[in-house]
Amino acid sequence: MAIAKTTSCTMAKPPKHTKNISKASAKHIYIVGMMGCGKTSFGRKLARSINYPLIDTDTYIYQTIGKSITTIFEEKGADAFRKIEHEAILTLSRLPQAHVISTGGGLPCYHNNMDVLLKTGYSIYLKAEVPFLYSRLKKNQQKRPLIADKSKSETFHILHNILQERHPIYSKATLTVNAISATPASVLQILQQDIGWEWEG
Ligand code: S3P
Repeated sequence: MAIAKTTSCTMAKPPKHTKNISKASAKHIYIVGMMGCGKTSFGRKLARSINYPLIDTDTYIYQTIGKSITTIFEEKGADAFRKIEHEAILTLSRLPQAHVISTGGGLPCYHNNMDVLLKTGYSIYLKAEVPFLYSRLKKNQQKRPLIADKSKSETFHILHNILQERHPIYSKATLTVNAISATPASVLQILQQDIGWEWEG
């Protein structure tokens, strides 16, 4: 399904929330941001609206390794998980068909993975604050090794620290949008009008 053509938008310079990327290498649309910001659900809707296949890196790792993320953390440790994640994104970034790829929260922040994303596609940072993240994470905290078994105040503290550390890296994304209010349609409109994204049908 082709997305609706929008009227062209003349702008003196790109808006501040966008960054230029090499058009020759542009292909996938990556969704990045903190755990709990809604990457998978946003990615699913975005992929559906442009008829791109969707890959969630955590699911891909689970399917490839045959173990849950929690089990990989427990059995092999965080460093081993980050290496697996790096191999996964290298493989996925090279797929010849354009995909929407929803990434694990830490993925852009290890092994220069953010550079891989920037070189091989457009990236959308779903920006969210800690209370919003906590409200979405509290039901399934056990599935997130970084916050499993933590109290509410500990979880707030951990999320705050992780966000401080990762925000500068996430902010390198092609586009930063508010996780609460952004819609796939609004993101696609900016990608098309301001950034020159073209649908690869
Ligand atoms: C992680 C986020 C998780 C998962 C793993 C580590 C992180 O993905 O990759 O638990 O470091 O923030 P989601 O962001 O999809 O929850």
